[in-house]
Amino acid sequence: MSKKKLVSLALGTSLVFSASFTGASAFAQSSDSITSKMDIHQKVMNIDKKGPSFLSGKLSKGIVKNDQDVKKFIKDNKELFAVDPHSELTLLEKTTDDLGMSHYRFTQSVDGVPVDGAIFIVHTNKKNEVTATTGQLYKEASKKVTKTKSKINQKSATDLAWKHIGLSKADTLKGAQNEFSIDAKKDSKVENTTEKNDLVIHEKDGKFTLAYKVQLQFIEPYGANWQIYVDAKDGSIVEAFNAVTDAATTGSGYGVLDDYKTLNTYSSNGTYYLYDVTKPMNGVIETFTARNGSSLPGYYSTDSNNSWTAYSQAADVDAHAYAGKVYDYYKNTHNRNSFDNNGATIRSTVHYGSNYNNAFWNGSQMVYGDGDGSTFTSLSGALDVVAHELTHAVTERTAGLQYQYQSGALNESFSDVFGYFLDPGDYLMGEDVYTPGISGDALRSLSNPSKYGQPEHMNNYVNTSSDNGGVHTNSGIPNKAAYNTISSIGKAKAEKIYYRALTVYLTPTSNFSYARAALLQSAADLYGSGSSTYNSVKAAWDAVGVY
Ligand SMILES: *[C@@H]1O[C@H](CO)[C@@H](O)[C@H](O)[C@H]1NC(C)=O
Ligand SMILES: *[C@@H]1O[C@H](CO)[C@@H](O)[C@H](O)[C@H]1NC(C)=O
Ligand SMILES: *[C@@H]1O[C@H](CO)[C@@H](O)[C@H](O)[C@H]1NC(C)=O
Ligand SMILES: *[C@@H]1O[C@H](CO)[C@@H](O)[C@H](O)[C@H]1NC(C)=O
Ligand SMILES: *[C@@H]1O[C@H](CO)[C@@H](O)[C@H](O)[C@H]1NC(C)=O
Ligand SMILES: *[C@@H]1O[C@H](CO)[C@@H](O)[C@H](O)[C@H]1NC(C)=O
Ligand SMILES: *[C@@H]1O[C@H](CO)[C@@H](O)[C@H](O)[C@H]1NC(C)=O
Ligand SMILES: *[C@@H]1O[C@H](CO)[C@@H](O)[C@H](O)[C@H]1NC(C)=O
Ligand SMILES: [Zn+2]
Repeated sequence: MSKKKLVSLALGTSLVFSASFTGASAFAQSSDSITSKMDIHQKVMNIDKKGPSFLSGKLSKGIVKNDQDVKKFIKDNKELFAVDPHSELTLLEKTTDDLGMSHYRFTQSVDGVPVDGAIFIVHTNKKNEVTATTGQLYKEASKKVTKTKSKINQKSATDLAWKHIGLSKADTLKGAQNEFSIDAKKDSKVENTTEKNDLVIHEKDGKFTLAYKVQLQFIEPYGANWQIYVDAKDGSIVEAFNAVTDAATTGSGYGVLDDYKTLNTYSSNGTYYLYDVTKPMNGVIETFTARNGSSLPGYYSTDSNNSWTAYSQAADVDAHAYAGKVYDYYKNTHNRNSFDNNGATIRSTVHYGSNYNNAFWNGSQMVYGDGDGSTFTSLSGALDVVAHELTHAVTERTAGLQYQYQSGALNESFSDVFGYFLDPGDYLMGEDVYTPGISGDALRSLSNPSKYGQPEHMNNYVNTSSDNGGVHTNSGIPNKAAYNTISSIGKAKAEKIYYRALTVYLTPTSNFSYARAALLQSAADLYGSGSSTYNSVKAAWDAVGVY
């Protein structure tokens, strides 16, 4: 699970640069008069000169064995630290560890108001010599905050913070009031919403502001740990961010057929993504939206509150949910980890093109059009279509069936057959998204290929060079053989046989006769040569004239 990060969303900004001094000689050449009293081994300065944030070496001359000694040490080096230890630093705690080192933890404050994040720690060794100082002091804080009297009170600061995020405390408690809720549950809900409010000095871009630091933590309607700094003089929002970032989340949404479903999503910096990190993959399942035509992969599908309810999000919802279902099917039924059996990322892009009546596997990802509204609606709305396309990816990594003539028709047929295995309610393909205005209609049928213009016996094989040699036409023949097989031996055995044939026996140039042999061999491996299962497969192909 270590790679489960939204790498492309993460932003790393390094505020510090590091310089290493290897001892007295390097140091002696330095013209840094400020640190000339010290023998510095390592120094990290904040780039914007807030003060040193990491300093180590032999830093003190005399003995430093209590907080008063530490303050004297800081005062002795006031050019470097630039704070008045007596008025600005408060000892929070002193600890001594197993190595005999002591750690003095201070916070900086101005007129008794803490500077947010200004924690400064002085470390001494067993011999009571200062060996390091760490943390952050703000050099100019006391000079830059002139008046530290607040004009607005704590209560109104909290109200302003809620207003800023467009919620009230009551909004975060909704949902407990359902018919099953009892008072105890309401109480646990109350506990899950926390308001904290502290007066602090807030630093941003070198500007120091007396502010209320309001922390709002809640679970509903979305997971949040808002940190909101409200200017104590005028009530304006100085800074606000949701510190709940980068977590796997569960959302929900409505699909193309307006059906409700839960979704594995990801929250990063207050935005939700169709990004599923819950599978035991090397990669993830991720869904994009092509905002403008045909550039791939497009943009991450996002939502502000993890309830994917917008009409425009329905195609995204289904592509994501169904990719997860197909993944689960191959993993649970065939122990295959993604299309490459190595846990590869399954990426989908929806809203491809304009009125585009198709879906395809582009060699590395799934792509779905929205249809023109009469021939098709958004194609990701059909689980069998999603399964069909992802099975092409499996075929590509296994049998490698060439996409022309009989091997091409087998390529199509295996995708349809696995479409059935994933969506076994009927033998129709694409019925959920095909001709939305006509009910009961479909693209193809395994049980009745001729209804949709496909041959279902070799006597009617279409000898053509169009459609790559009739791959979408002649697939009716092996499809009918699959129907004969499934209806005779049942789905559970049939899917084992078909998966074994696809991944073990079929090769790029396999034709129909070869497929019959491959399926029979798989049936023999699994259920015995001459078993009733074996004989059913044989009869299934006899019936369509393939020997
Ligand atoms: C509050 O949080 C606890 C622990 O995270 C959880 O068990 C409980 O269900 C939550 N209450 C509600 C109402 O969400
Ligand atoms: C996090 O979200 C805030 C507010 O939406 C935005 O201003 C900020 O740039 C985002 N940060 C990152 C790292 O995306
Ligand atoms: C879509 O792409 C075309 C060509 O790349 C460009 O001219 C157009 O401005 C884009 N439209 C939007 C809404 O981004
Ligand atoms: C498929 O989509 C990916 C983007 O996810 C793109 O990099 C690649 O070039 C596309 N492949 C083809 C064959 O168009
Ligand atoms: C989520 O946000 C959408 C608008 O983006 C809004 O219509 C919907 O009501 C919100 N849902 C919840 C549960 O807050
Ligand atoms: C199978 O069919 C798909 C198109 O649906 C094609 O992209 C692929 O090249 C064909 N062959 C293999 C080996 O997947
Ligand atoms: C298809 O047509 C070609 C040439 O017209 C012929 O040689 C071949 O035997 C035909 N195949 C079938 C299966 O009918
Ligand atoms: C199918 O392939 C086999 C070789 O695997 C070959 O002997 C046979 O003639 C082919 N049949 C057709 C109809 O192309
Ligand atoms: Zn296909």
